[in-house]
Formats: sequence, structure tokens, C-alpha cells
Amino acid sequence: MIVKPGFMIVCHQFNEIQFMEEEMHGITDKPIILWLIAATAVSTISALKTGIHKHKSLDTWFLVTEQSTYVIGATAEGYIANLHWGNRLEKLDDLNATMTDTFFVQNPPPTYVTEELPVFGGLRFRDNVLMVEFPDGVRELNLLYSGKANITDNYLLDLDLRDGNRTDVLVTLHYEIDIENDIIRRSYTIRNGMDKRINVSKAFSAAWHLPTTLGSDEKREIMTLAGEWGSEAMVQSTELRPGVTHVIQSQRGFPSHVSYPYFAIRQVPSDVNPSTEVYFGALAWSGSWEITAHTSLFGTTRVVGGMHHQDFGWSLDPNESFTTPVFAAGFTNKGMPGARKLLPRHVRKYQKKNLATQKDDSVYHPVLYNSWEAMTFDISVDKQLELAEMAAPLGIELFVVDDGWFGARDNDSAGLGDWYVNKKKFPHGMKPLADRVHELGMKFGIWYEPEGVNPNSDLYREHPDWVFYYDARNQLVLNLALPEVQEYLFNSMSSFITDNDVDYIKWDMNRPWGEVSMHNYDRNPREAWTLSVRGFYNIIDKLKEAHPKLWIESCASGGGRMDIGILEKTDQVWTSDNTRPDARIMIQYGASLFLPPRAQYSWVTDSPWDANTNIPLSFRFHVSFMGGLGIGSKINEFTKEQTEEATAWVSLYKQIRPVIQNGDLDWLVQPSRLSELVAVSQTTSRDQSEAVVLGYRHNSPFSTPLNWVRLRNLDKSATYTIKVWGSDPHEAEEEYESTGALLMHRGIMLNSLNSAMFKSVVVWLQRK
Ligand SMILES: *[C@@H]1O[C@H](CO)[C@@H](O)[C@H](O)[C@H]1NC(C)=O
Ligand SMILES: *[C@@H]1O[C@H](CO)[C@@H](O)[C@H](O)[C@H]1NC(C)=O
Ligand SMILES: *[C@@H]1O[C@H](CO)[C@@H](O)[C@H](O)[C@H]1NC(C)=O
Ligand SMILES: *[C@@H]1O[C@H](CO)[C@@H](O)[C@H](O)[C@H]1NC(C)=O
Ligand SMILES: *[C@@H]1O[C@H](CO)[C@@H](O)[C@H](O)[C@H]1NC(C)=O
Ligand SMILES: *[C@@H]1O[C@H](CO)[C@@H](O)[C@H](O)[C@H]1NC(C)=O
Repeated sequence: MIVKPGFMIVCHQFNEIQFMEEEMHGITDKPIILWLIAATAVSTISALKTGIHKHKSLDTWFLVTEQSTYVIGATAEGYIANLHWGNRLEKLDDLNATMTDTFFVQNPPPTYVTEELPVFGGLRFRDNVLMVEFPDGVRELNLLYSGKANITDNYLLDLDLRDGNRTDVLVTLHYEIDIENDIIRRSYTIRNGMDKRINVSKAFSAAWHLPTTLGSDEKREIMTLAGEWGSEAMVQSTELRPGVTHVIQSQRGFPSHVSYPYFAIRQVPSDVNPSTEVYFGALAWSGSWEITAHTSLFGTTRVVGGMHHQDFGWSLDPNESFTTPVFAAGFTNKGMPGARKLLPRHVRKYQKKNLATQKDDSVYHPVLYNSWEAMTFDISVDKQLELAEMAAPLGIELFVVDDGWFGARDNDSAGLGDWYVNKKKFPHGMKPLADRVHELGMKFGIWYEPEGVNPNSDLYREHPDWVFYYDARNQLVLNLALPEVQEYLFNSMSSFITDNDVDYIKWDMNRPWGEVSMHNYDRNPREAWTLSVRGFYNIIDKLKEAHPKLWIESCASGGGRMDIGILEKTDQVWTSDNTRPDARIMIQYGASLFLPPRAQYSWVTDSPWDANTNIPLSFRFHVSFMGGLGIGSKINEFTKEQTEEATAWVSLYKQIRPVIQNGDLDWLVQPSRLSELVAVSQTTSRDQSEAVVLGYRHNSPFSTPLNWVRLRNLDKSATYTIKVWGSDPHEAEEEYESTGALLMHRGIMLNSLNSAMFKSVVVWLQRK
């Protein structure tokens, strides 16, 4: 049977159709469109399948995910414009890009066209993405569709643009769709086809265009994450107003705590518009970055973003090319809970794709012990051995030695950079400790701060030219742009990992960059900003390649480097140095917008942050149950009761960990700095067979009982058994059954959260 694009197929069985479609993709690489009528089916199956399709006659491309469609097209002039981004379309509608010409006649096209890659040049006055400097002094581009497009495997699209007929600058736009998570990943490659060097002076990754709102009373809000060291990922919303540009950014060399490369723009429901549409996105770049959102009087919003333009520079010699980092963005009509599900799932999917250690969902992130908060620099082989002996019976699976094990490192003023074992503290090296830890059935981990160097170190004395010399916090930053620095770090770390059977490293970074430059360099010295991030990625990639079983945690004074780019290269992040549990709830709330639950680590500590609050151990555990679990307390000073309690909580955690680590984390009662003193989260397995609800009350000034809490995402018709633990890990304080519908529509009472401070519960639901 020969099937041609555009033919209508009448068929009786859905399976048969799917089979035929696959075959057809084999015979022709032209996109195939099926208008499908299932004769016996009750409903019509959507004709426009997921994937990337080109319109049969127009230069229009449809990027179709499960729930959304993103359409781009070339105008008659050759501009590549966005024509639709939002709910899923049903067929290959005749979306003719030329029609955008009639939109607003006062200005010529480049001023208002929703260009996918608005450059600096011509009458383009809104936020642009790319700027180039030519040897003759010209700094303008006019990128137009070249007529060449390439769809690969139904989920990748490349579109070639040329600089009109003026210069031989070529740009290829890259699109990759994550069909099940409604996310589009964008980047592009710019190539110098001329015989002279050119300079790229701005290279953001993409422009995103949100459609117009309806009336002037319609409101949208942009949700962003702000922070500082110790108070990461604080959620905030600001109303978008016409004529105003919102800017979020980091100029520190790394993503930083101050703002996160994430945005969500949501419709504020009104009397006439109940919409819960949300557009959201995040940058996969672990350096300085910038995202801006500009809103017009028509209610359209343009979001652009990428590597920060301040002091950015990149030289392109003839035939050289430069590819930007990925800017991923998605659409959902399911409100913020929808956005909170899709982006973490997307990140998880790319972790699985890229990391040997993350391929298997049934390999869980280990329960770890780290003595930093208990011991700081005061470590030695004997003390660590003593802790290891105590950690194993608690159920700890990974034992981590933190700062202080190397060089002349007795405090933070010396030794950083000297990655060999301190013989005073570990006279026979690290191997005896690593061996004992392994014998005890635990994995062995170690702390590094590879990018840092103390002026008082052998490394700096030997290689004063390896740093960005700006002395603050007793430390300098190594210039990872230099291949010899990459080589030194890779070799010293890799051989240490091999020699000591290291299973895990905590990669810390504690200094924003200053005096970033390349010296005696015949290209643009501003390349240092980008080259050092690439150097950092290169070391991590090489370590992962040389040690496929090695786990890496990304830490930068807590959660300063947890962009979605580093999450494609490392296993997990350290969300914050602040381990005070009531603060941590707020931090985890913000971070859950983009982090897969398993990647977000949280420790139970007796940290000085909350010395006077008397927060019970149960509350500390329950907060740390939300993702990967760690312990950082002085377990050598635990009473017998505390040891028993901790052991029982670790054991309960291991039972619920499959749901916690592989499920979707949602919030039923949102934590707030100001009003509510209660927060409730729910993590649900993807097949709805299990869920874990964690409820917290951090204060209780009023005698009114807590309201019913309605659960979500359960199987309505199923019956669930429900077990509730309060402060006693040994015994569930409640156990009952209820249907999914009742749990969702009426809710549950969390009685034990009433009446006292720092009460918390763990509720485990299992489908019968
Ligand atoms: C697209 O629209 C323009 C302007 O209306 C029209 O001239 C052109 O023929 C259309 N192209 C197609 C293929 O329909
Ligand atoms: C590119 O940048 C380098 C270094 O800043 C400079 O020497 C050169 O003149 C620039 N070239 C162009 C074409 O702007
Ligand atoms: C299309 O893209 C794929 C994947 O990027 C590439 O392998 C292939 O060579 C490209 N084809 C053309 C004709 O450019
Ligand atoms: C480029 O030059 C060709 C041939 O002169 C012409 O047909 C085409 O319209 C020009 N394209 C642009 C974008 O100026
Ligand atoms: C650029 O690449 C083209 C095609 O491969 C080649 O003919 C040309 O010599 C190259 N130019 C330079 C300056 O390397
Ligand atoms: C830090 O450690 C170094 C090396 O052991 C030592 O010389 C110095 O006195 C220490 N500084 C402080 C403030 O303890």
C-alpha cells in the first residue's frame, strides 16, 4: 500500500494505523500527515501527530508535543517568525507567516515580527539575541531563511539562516522537542564563512514569544527565583506591565544564588478568563547568564536569554563556528503544578540520557553521612573511622569526607589547590579509611573545590599564572579556560579517585569570579568567561567518562550552581548550606520548580543555624525526606534514643524512597515567609499507585485546627491504604483506607499538626 502525504486513511484499529505510520516514515522522510478516522472508535483521534512536521506547501513547521504546539514560519521577506505557541493544534493548519505582515502597519516588518532569532541590526528595536562586529566596522546583521531545513528523527529541526546577500555569516537554528514533557530546547550555531576574523559580542540562546493577552485588564505574572547564600530559590511573582522589561541575571561567572536562570509566566485568572496557562523555561548554562522579559502594549511578551552579554566576546576565524547553550521552555495549561511536573521530568529525562549513573530508576540516591557540620576542619583518620563505624548501623549508604583532608588545610586560609592527602591527618593516605568504609557496606565520597586556590598553597606558588588574580575570601579562582589547568585537575582528581576507590565527589565552588581574562592571548580575552565554563564542563565530562560509576554532586556555597545544564552532567545538587529545616522548606519549595526530587539533597543536622529553636529530630528528618536524604549531625554525641530514632527514620525513608525519588513533587499547601505556618507537599508515583504526603507546622500561635488538605493526582476509583507517622518512627499513629476520589475531593485531616510548634507528619498512600 502506498500512502501519500495528505491522504485520508480509514481504518478500524488504532494499532494498525500506528504500525503503518512507522512504515511510512521508513519510506519517505517527508513528514506524513494523517487525517485519521477510527471507524469503531468513539472519538476522533487527533490528526496532527506529535513530532516535527513541515506544512505541505508553506515554509511553516509544526513542533507538536503531547499537549502543546509551537509553530514557526518564514515570512515573504525571509524572517523566521513564531506563529503559535500554546495549546495543541489538531491539524496542519494553513498558518501562512506572510500574514504577520498585516498585523501592524505603522512600522516595517522587522520591528514587530515575532522573530525566532532577532539580531542587532535594521529596524529591530526590542531585545535582541545576537550581535556581531565585522572588520570594516559594520555591526549589523539581517538573518533570513536560506531555504534549507532539516528534520531528523521526528524531534530535531535545523533551519539555516543567511545574512541576506551581504556577508557570509551563517546561522543554523536548532530545535529539539521533548514530546512527553511539552518542552522545546533551542540553541543555534553561528559560522563565519568569510575570509576575515569577526567578533561575536552577544550570543543569547533564543527568543520566545508569548501570544497576546485579550484585553487590557488581562494580567500575567512572571514568577522568578531570588536568593542569597543560605536563602536560595525564594519564589516571587511580579505583574508584567506594557513597556516594562524585567531582567534576571548573574554576572558572577557561575549561575549564583542571587537569581536563578528560570522563569514562569502565568495567566492570572479573572472573572472572564479562567485560564491556567503557564509558559516556563530555564537555561542550561553554568556560567553568567541573563534572561529578560519585555511586554508590549498588545500584551505580547518576548523573553530572551542566554550567556550574559556583559563583557562577553568570542572571535570567529574563517570557517569557525560557535554554538550557544540550550534554552529550554515549555507550555502547560495546568497551572504551576503542571509546570512543576514537566520541567523536573524533563531534567530527569536528560540525566538518564546522559549519565551512566542515572540510567536506572531503581538505583536510588544513597542516604549519606557528611561530618562537615559536626567537625568542620577538625578531621583525622581516627575521627572519621569512628564516625564511619557509627554511620553504618544507622543505615547510611554513602560516607563523605568533607573539606580539610588535603594539603596544609587546617582552615580556609591555606592548602586549597593542593589535592594530595594531608599526612598529619591521614598518615597512611586515604585508602585505609576508604577500605573500611567499603567493608562497612557504604560507598566512599570526598569533597573537592577544584576551581579554588589559596594564595598560601603550593599550587599557587608553582603556577601564579593559572589564576584569575582577585584575592577575596582568602582565595583565588583557577582559570579553567587553560588546558594545562584542566589537565592538572583532571589528572590529580582522576588518579585520587582510582587509587582510593572513590564512589562520589562533592564538587564545591565558593568564589564569584573577578579579573576574568586571558593573558598573552591572540584572540578576544573576553572568551575567558565562556572558556572557563567549558573547561569546567570538560573536566566533569572526562571524569564521568573515565569513572562511569562515579557520582558527582554540584555545590557552590550551597545552591549557587544548580542550573539545568549542570544537572545534565552531575547526579545531584546541594540545595543550600542552610540546613535549618523551617528555612529549608521554603528553599525546597522554590527549587522544586526545576529540580527532579531525587537530585535535591537535604541533610538532618544539629546545625548552629537553629541552635535555640529546639526543633525535634522527627521534623528534621521529615523535611529531608523530600529528596535525597543525608545526615550531618554529631552522631557520635547522639543518645541511645536518638540513635534508635534516626535508624528508624532512615529505614522508613528507604521504604518510601521509590516514590520520593522517582515521583512528581507537588505542593498542596504552599510555604510562605509571612502568613501560613503550615506547608504540605505530595510526591506521587507516575502510575498513581503510591504517594507520600509530607506535612509541616513550623508554628502554631492559634488554637484553630488545620483545614482539610485535598490530595491530587490519585486514581479516583482506587482504594488506598494510608499510614501516618508523626514523631514516632517505630509506629504509625494512624492507619486507614480511603478512595482516591474521597482523598482528592474531600481531603485528609492532618490532626497531629494541630496545637504545637515543629509538628510534622509522613503520610504514605498505597493503592490496594
Ligand atoms: C500567504 O499569504 C500571502 C499574503 O496573503 C499570499 O500572497 C500567499 O499566496 C500565501 N501563500 C500561500 C502558500 O498560501
Ligand atoms: C575583535 O576583538 C579583538 C580583541 O578585542 C580586537 O583586537 C579586534 O579588533 C576585534 N575585531 C573586530 C572585527 O571587531
Ligand atoms: C540533518 O541533521 C542531522 C542531525 O543533526 C545531520 O546528521 C544531517 O547530516 C543533516 N542533514 C542535512 C541534509 O543537513
Ligand atoms: C539575494 O540575491 C539574489 C540574487 O541577486 C536575489 O534574488 C535575492 O532576492 C536576494 N536576497 C535578499 C534577501 O536580498
Ligand atoms: C573554509 O572551508 C571551505 C570549505 O571547506 C574551504 O574551501 C576554505 O578554504 C576554508 N577557508 C579557510 C580560510 O580555511
Ligand atoms: C590556618 O592554618 C594555617 C596552616 O596550618 C596556620 O598557619 C594559620 O595560623 C591558621 N590560621 C588561623 C586563623 O587559624
